[in-house]
Amino acid sequence: MSNALEVKELNKSYPDFKLQDVSFTLPTGYIMGFVGQNGAGKTTTIRCILNMATRKGGEITIFGLDNIKDELAAKQELAVVFDEIFFVDTWRVKEVEKAIRGFYSQWDSGIYNSYLEKFDLSPTKKVKDLSRGMKMKLMLAVAMSHGAKLLILDEPTSGLDPVARDELLDILKDYVAGGEKSVFFSTHITSDLERAADYITLIDHGKIFYTGTKDGLLEHFLIIKGSKEELTDELRKKIIGLAATSSGFNGMIRVGDAKGLPASFSLEQPEIDEILVHISKGGISYE
Ligand SMILES: Nc1ncnc2c1ncn2[C@@H]1O[C@H](COP(=O)(O)OP(=O)(O)OP(=O)(O)O)[C@@H](O)[C@H]1O
Ligand SMILES: [Mg+2]
Repeated sequence: MSNALEVKELNKSYPDFKLQDVSFTLPTGYIMGFVGQNGAGKTTTIRCILNMATRKGGEITIFGLDNIKDELAAKQELAVVFDEIFFVDTWRVKEVEKAIRGFYSQWDSGIYNSYLEKFDLSPTKKVKDLSRGMKMKLMLAVAMSHGAKLLILDEPTSGLDPVARDELLDILKDYVAGGEKSVFFSTHITSDLERAADYITLIDHGKIFYTGTKDGLLEHFLIIKGSKEELTDELRKKIIGLAATSSGFNGMIRVGDAKGLPASFSLEQPEIDEILVHISKGGISYE
C-alpha cells in the first residue's frame, strides 16, 4: 500500500523565513505528530501540502497522488481541520450538515450523526454557543464523515483542557485503528505525542531535526553531563542545548556522537519534552 503522505525536499521561501529540504513520510494506518516551536514552519508545511501555498521546490504525494498535478483526486482523500471554526456562527449543529454535505461526494449522514451522538453535540445548539472543545469536535465530526483517508489537523488540541485533549487524541486513535486511515497533526504539547503519535517529525527553523518513530526519537538522543575539564571544543560542537553549571555542563547529544566517550560522562535517555527543550536552546548542527 502506498504511503498516506510523502513530503520530499520541500522548499518554500518567505522574506524572513525558509522551509529547507523538508522531507518526511507517514505510512498508511498511523498517526504522525508534527512538532516545533512557534514560527518553526508547521502551518507553512501544512499549507504547502494542501496547495494553499506555492512551493519553490520538492514533491508532495498523498496516497501516491501528486498534490498539484492530481490535486482534485488527492483532495478526495483528505480532510483538514484548522484551529479556527469555519462554520457560520448562527447555524445550528443540524444545519451544518445540510450546508456542507453537498461539497462532498462521499458524505455519510449516518456516520456524522453517530459522531454527534458520541460527542454529545446537541443538534439544536448554535455554533456560536458551543465551547471550544465542542467546536473542535464538530469540525472533527465533519472531517471524519466524508470518506477521507488522511486527516490533517493544525494544532487541534491548543486551548483544550487536559480531559478534552485526551478525548480528542483517543478519537484520533480510534480513527486510524482499522489500518486504512492516517492522521497528521501539529502540536506544541509533548504529552499529545506521548499519548497518540506513532511517528514524530520535529521541525526547527524550517528544517527537519528528526523524523521517524516515537521510540526511535527517544533512542536517537542522550542527555550528557560531565565536568568542565571534559568539555573539549570537539565535544562542544556536538552538544545540543549546552548549559554550563557550577560543577560542569549538561546538554543533549546524538547517540552516534556519544560513541567512544569515556565512562566518566553521565549519559541518560531523555523524555520527549527534554528533547524539545534542548532543541529550543539551540546549538544545533544539522547532519
Ligand atoms: N504569508 C506569509 N508571508 C510572509 N511570511 C509568512 C507567511 N506565512 C508564514 N510566514 C512566516 O513563516 C514562518 C513560519 O510560520 P508558520 O506559521 O509556518 O509557523 P508555525 O510552526 O505554524 O508556528 P505556530 O506554532 O506559531 O503556529 C514565520 O516566521 C512566519 O512569519
Ligand atoms: Mg502554526
